[in-house]
Amino acid sequence: MRPKCFPDGKKAKRWSRSHGCKQRFEAERGGPAIACSPTPISRLLGSESEPDQAAHCTDGEERGPRRHPGCWKMLTVAMCMALLGCLQAQELRGHVSVILLGATGDLARKYLWQGLFQLYLDEAGKDYSFSFHGAALTSTKQGQAFIAKVLESLSCPEDVAPDRCAELKGQFQRLSAYRHLATSEDYMALSKDIEAQVQHGGLREAGRIFYFSVPPFAYADIARNINSSCRPGPGAWLRVVLEKPFGHDHLSAQQLATELGGFFREEEMYRVDHYLGKQAVAQILPFRDQNRKALDGLWSRHHVERVEIIMKETVDAEGRTSFYEEYGVIRDVLQNHLTEVLTLVAMELPHNISSSESVLQHKLRAFRALRGLQKGSAVLGQYQAYSEQVRREQQKPDSFRSLTPTFAGVLVHMDNLRWEGVPFILMSGKALDERVGYVRILFRNQAYCVQNDEHWVADQSQCLPRQIVFYIGHGELGSPAVLVSRNLFRPSLPSESWKGLGARPGLRLFGRPLSDFYAYRPVREQDAYSVLISRIFHGRKDSFVTTENLLASWGFWTPLLDSLAHEVPRLYPGGAENGHLLDFEFSGAQLYFSQRQPERLVPGPGPAPMPSGFQVLKAKYRESPLISAWPEELIAKLADDIEATAVRAVRRFGTFHLALSGGSSPVPLFQQLATRHYGFPWAHTHLWLVDERCVPLWDPESNFQHLQTHLLQHVRVPYYNIHPMPVHLHQRLCAEEDQGAQTYASEISALVANSSFDLVLLGMGADGHTASLFPQSPSGLDGEQLVVLTESPSRPFQRMSLSLPLINRARKVAVLVMGRVKREITMLVSRVGHEPKKWPISGVLPSSGQLVWYMDYEAFLG
Ligand code: BG6
Repeated sequence: MRPKCFPDGKKAKRWSRSHGCKQRFEAERGGPAIACSPTPISRLLGSESEPDQAAHCTDGEERGPRRHPGCWKMLTVAMCMALLGCLQAQELRGHVSVILLGATGDLARKYLWQGLFQLYLDEAGKDYSFSFHGAALTSTKQGQAFIAKVLESLSCPEDVAPDRCAELKGQFQRLSAYRHLATSEDYMALSKDIEAQVQHGGLREAGRIFYFSVPPFAYADIARNINSSCRPGPGAWLRVVLEKPFGHDHLSAQQLATELGGFFREEEMYRVDHYLGKQAVAQILPFRDQNRKALDGLWSRHHVERVEIIMKETVDAEGRTSFYEEYGVIRDVLQNHLTEVLTLVAMELPHNISSSESVLQHKLRAFRALRGLQKGSAVLGQYQAYSEQVRREQQKPDSFRSLTPTFAGVLVHMDNLRWEGVPFILMSGKALDERVGYVRILFRNQAYCVQNDEHWVADQSQCLPRQIVFYIGHGELGSPAVLVSRNLFRPSLPSESWKGLGARPGLRLFGRPLSDFYAYRPVREQDAYSVLISRIFHGRKDSFVTTENLLASWGFWTPLLDSLAHEVPRLYPGGAENGHLLDFEFSGAQLYFSQRQPERLVPGPGPAPMPSGFQVLKAKYRESPLISAWPEELIAKLADDIEATAVRAVRRFGTFHLALSGGSSPVPLFQQLATRHYGFPWAHTHLWLVDERCVPLWDPESNFQHLQTHLLQHVRVPYYNIHPMPVHLHQRLCAEEDQGAQTYASEISALVANSSFDLVLLGMGADGHTASLFPQSPSGLDGEQLVVLTESPSRPFQRMSLSLPLINRARKVAVLVMGRVKREITMLVSRVGHEPKKWPISGVLPSSGQLVWYMDYEAFLG
């Protein structure tokens, strides 16, 4: 039973005044000081001696006679203990222990101790008591010295007077102690100490926060120790805080997540992305929520021209190349910070943004809408001094050249109704001309202003640029801010935390004077870690990265990272000298540097030849016309030829029946058709599949899914003209008895005159397969069947395919062959006769139509 003390807090205050604990009790109730617990509680309880203990319980004037110091001390301690117990029983919701692992590290020194101090200032007066354990592997003596130094350097918010600040710091210092924490016995001892502290103080344990400010390789051991020896008892929570990197790609992130999942429950893990604690970033959702009415009509593809999510740095990677060499800018910044920001801008806004669960679910949905990235979605750079820094710091030979990008621009699209077609530009780099971070939403302008622009007034003219900017920090402004063009709307921001930004004559941002914007800055600037530590304490999981979100993000970035693994980044000098070298632009889904840097294909004097300088080569291959060129030209030529065939077919027959293959080679073709061929008669085109993998149509492996992603969603083909292969019937995949192949054949016979496609686009596999007709296939190479089920030697094994006899009925067959990996089979097939069992491609010979080969130079010439 807890002692019954005072019916309400007021009485407690009166009592405290009359008994000489005034200052501390007021602090206990209204301010952050812990009244009778100025030293770690264990010390107050006598486990460590404290010579000046009584002095902590009264102020100077009220200090009693010093003639019997021992007696006074005991009396005071007992009094304070009783009082503390009463107050805690009545008012304190519990005791929180914070264990900072890696307490002597860089991050802890720069941000975490300050963040914990801020937590103490904000929360200690409100129902909770705290103890802070700085833990590391350093010896106790060194650790103590380090922590004493760090604690001394802590600062208070601007509005706290210096003497009050010193007092608060003193309290915090007394609640903080260093611990050497290495073995499982150390963890057990820590747990016991916390329990004793709680028990002797008559407290209830609310929870424990373990902040992992340690390298990831140390995670597993620490996690095991916490799980086995340092969990709080029933009724108290455990929160473990993890710092990036959370893996290196999807697989390693999954392994790490599985490992941690063996020790902690999902709700116990708080993965930090410190950008979520930046004030301007943390304001994105509240801003969208508070301005719902104004934004409802604006926040979509109908109004947004583009979104820029930018983090520029002037520093380079010197001193941390061992980390950087393994990660590079995409893993270091884009996969986490910029992607998190992207989801906050793009996600559907939950009805209740204070529900962590719904914010996280909406975020996950935003991840699902991200369109897969291609190699061409990114541009990469590396500052010139980087390789030399790596050589020096990692003792690499003189010949070593790093391929790690220190700069990246990436073009991201979302495939959903809100954002379809809106470019999201993500960009970050080291050694750039300035340090600045922002998210800029630029709106389209559909107005035309008749009067001369001298008469345009910021809050009236619809012709001035319209933008909303979440200014993360640094740059010209030097502080976080939210900016809204005056010709958009006057935003509403919480006045207790955001205030108007004063005039800054002469300052221009994003091409406009500051006076063009409604501009706000935080009333009190807070470091990201302080914000996040507070959110950890309040259990706001939406400010952290859940396992699902983490894996979704890696799932999005890993294919791009893989495809760029051997890409040579463009070198840049660094700083202002970069000039326009890194400027980039986009067209469709492709991103490229604005300034071309011709590659020297043939060494020697004179200007280097450009790919565009090469002619498209026309020749014969297997007795049929061959068109060969560099990939870009080849794809452009093939797209032109397909359009010409389509236009002719529609003119003659009213429709165009096109059968398309899957795989990666046709992807650039689809993109080309989607973005460059406005005269294509899509409304009269029927699209068929040459082959399909036996997976559901929404599976990323599905050929139809490729077609959908890269072509269908960008053009206007009537939906009844789209004919996916029926591989998924009766909730099963390619079962013979479902007769999917026969159904498709009947559909073709019903709609395509003589079952003769106007054009069939094929590829050629390195083993000589085409469509899904593989060497030695028991079906599809001859016979009556138009559509067949086949087996592939690689996953997914089951396939559906047009048969060779059906393909050969087409009016035109185009075979697209790209890349050096095809060189060998190209050579081989050029020599063989008609041997479809060995090389199915050799059986492609339209009976009355035309066959044309499209090969890039690498496939054709090697
Ligand atoms: C870190 C990256 O996550 O963020 C660093 O690892 C980068 O490379 C830093 O410099 C930038 O953070 P801030 O808060 O300085 O913008």
